[in-house]
Amino acid sequence: MMTAPALSISAETSVRPFPTRLLIDHRWVESESGETFASVNPATGEEICQVAAADSADVDKAVRAARRAFEQGPWRKMNASARGRLLHRLADLIETNAEELARLESLDNGKPLSLARRVDLPKTIACYRYFAGWADKVQGQTIPIDGEFFCYTRHEPVGVVGQIIPWNYPMLMQAWKLAPALATGNTVVMKPAEQTPLSALRIGELILEAGFPEGVVNLVPGFGPTAGAAIAGHMDVDKVAFTGSTETGRLILEAAARSNLKRVSLELGGKSPNIIFADTDLDEAVEGAHLGLFSNQGQVCCAGSRVFVEESVYEPFLEKSVARARERVVGDPLDPRTEQGPQVDQAQMDRILGYIGSGLEQGAVLACGGNRIGSRGYFVEPTVFADVGDAMKIAKEEIFGPVMSVIPFSSLDDVIRRANNTIYGLAAAVWTRDIRKAHAVANSVRAGTVWVNCYNVLDTRAPFGGFKQSGSGRELGEYGLQQYTEVKTVTVRL
Ligand code: NAI
Ligand code: MG
Repeated sequence: MMTAPALSISAETSVRPFPTRLLIDHRWVESESGETFASVNPATGEEICQVAAADSADVDKAVRAARRAFEQGPWRKMNASARGRLLHRLADLIETNAEELARLESLDNGKPLSLARRVDLPKTIACYRYFAGWADKVQGQTIPIDGEFFCYTRHEPVGVVGQIIPWNYPMLMQAWKLAPALATGNTVVMKPAEQTPLSALRIGELILEAGFPEGVVNLVPGFGPTAGAAIAGHMDVDKVAFTGSTETGRLILEAAARSNLKRVSLELGGKSPNIIFADTDLDEAVEGAHLGLFSNQGQVCCAGSRVFVEESVYEPFLEKSVARARERVVGDPLDPRTEQGPQVDQAQMDRILGYIGSGLEQGAVLACGGNRIGSRGYFVEPTVFADVGDAMKIAKEEIFGPVMSVIPFSSLDDVIRRANNTIYGLAAAVWTRDIRKAHAVANSVRAGTVWVNCYNVLDTRAPFGGFKQSGSGRELGEYGLQQYTEVKTVTVRL
């Protein structure tokens, strides 16, 4: 594989000091083993700092603290409205520190600072505020059962919740997990991803500042097979919520089955079809497909990675998409002109370059890109493959990088069948002016989210999650509350 010319990167690694230890029972502590790991700036490959690495002994401690906080602390007895106020206070603190947090996220993850400012921060704040509002609105029903009884339901917290999050939207994934869990009165042991632990820890500081009671939120940065597996297999964790690869999701479900049958919710991979009909506004669709795939360096679970284009507009669509990909500005995440930063780490970059190699081997036509950029940091050229066959690896497996596959189709029936020919079912989109085609796709594609004439429109008020091997359960919106509550039926003889 060739290497394109080097980029100039202004490696600004000076950030305000923040905790780099574990947060257990309201205190910042070293790991039991004393082990640490490096968090790396993916724009340079250089270490930012060392972070304490949790393992099973630390997870045990954190679970004990969370259990104590759940059974004995003030948290359970607190007014629901007071839990809501704490979440609002946290949202306010994040807003006050938004610029610092955006910089930290960009530094640790590699995403453009402009993207962190425009997407990650506002969406994180909105998520905490939205669920803060739910805290005192989670209510059961009264049910007219037969006989002289008064029957009602209570929606109670599940208990101690383990949460394992990925590195692509570190702060936002923390919010998607923490906000509904806390609004409904659970206590939490959370493991941030080993690639991006820093913003989670800084928010840990803000959680203490907001005044949450001791032991309600515990943060245990560390690796998957150690700290992550300890959470998934723990006998005293009542539920685990996970976002990441389908492969790891399977391990988590197995660990839950082998231990205490804890509840599991999974938000996993995708290979989402983005379907472009000839009757659509072509320029809008080109831009929509571009952003639907290349946003966040292509590291998006619902990325529109299979772009199906109706035969009659296939050539012009491809030409315009290639021109747009060539224009995409790749470079220093801190430069305001940058649209695309580095991939999160060497392993992800190597994986993506491996997929590009496989596309070439299996006969796809490389229309642009295909190379690593420079030798410092983990930059990959925006890449477009044409004439991709449905059976090729690049059309079947999640690449999680800036690699678009453009695939021709002939008819509505043809494209629906092929869109569904995947193990995944996270998202799909359709671009058309014909309302019948739009609804035919919306009703027939087996995916948790369908976008019509738009892409990547995610909102904290609307549920998100997968069909098939893209996961189980829904996050966000009112539906998201179900992941964090148990329903109790109470029957009283009158
Ligand atoms: P991963 O699924 O292994 O990592 C996600 C989280 O799970 C991290 O916090 C990790 O430490 C933890 N984890 C790993 N192994 C574990 C285990 N045995 N038990 C408990 N927790 C464990 O994903 P990874 O290796 O970072 O990336 C591989 C691929 O996964 C990517 O190329 C991408 O295709 C996919 N992925 C999908 C994401 C999504 O948003 N759906 C997010 C991240 C990765
Ligand atoms: Mg991994």
